[in-house]
Amino acid sequence: MKDIFPSLTGEVNLITQVLLIILQKLSKEEYIISRSPDETMNFGEKLSRDLLSGSHIFALYGTLGAGKTLLTKGIARGLQVPDWYYVNSPTFTLINEYEGRLPLYHFDLYRLDNQDDLLEIGFEDYLQKPGVMVIEWPEKVGEMILSLDFIGITLAITGEEQREIITSYNKPSN
Ligand SMILES: Nc1ncnc2c1ncn2[C@@H]1O[C@H](COP(=O)(O)OP(=O)(O)OP(=O)(O)O)[C@@H](O)[C@H]1O
Ligand SMILES: [Mg+2]
Repeated sequence: MKDIFPSLTGEVNLITQVLLIILQKLSKEEYIISRSPDETMNFGEKLSRDLLSGSHIFALYGTLGAGKTLLTKGIARGLQVPDWYYVNSPTFTLINEYEGRLPLYHFDLYRLDNQDDLLEIGFEDYLQKPGVMVIEWPEKVGEMILSLDFIGITLAITGEEQREIITSYNKPSN
């Protein structure tokens, strides 16, 4: 490319960047960089502190150690959960409930083996309850999740203390 159109390279880069920004806007994705665990928690707090009553779902995507649980702590802080800092991944139960300004239902489905276990933990019942569902490893819910209204947050490790955080909106009801 560079050799064939030497004078175009700069313009092509610029056009590519502008197109990427337009694509992000069209897909209604938001993108931030977190530079510390605190920044990720603060971001979580912002997600929840203005939520009104009703049902809200956050699906947190990202590899082991990406920061999903830290983000959940922040969401808990925004919901005024007492002892929000001690919110930790539910290990054997797959779900922990906390009382806050709105109830918080924190799922970690990493250890979910099959869809029957989803029924067993009452996943579908939680969908009817007012409150905030935060789901780590939402991939385990399967395609059914795409039928729900949720905010998807994808965390990627881009440095020792740096995380790329992309927010998107799944709104099948529109
Ligand atoms: N900018 C950052 N944001 C979030 N976590 C960070 C950041 N920088 C470093 N970390 C570290 O990354 C780790 C994130 O752990 P956390 O338990 O939140 O990950 P997780 O995505 O929930 O993993 P798992 O899938 O195992 O549950 C923590 O040890 C935290 O200190
Ligand atoms: Mg976790």
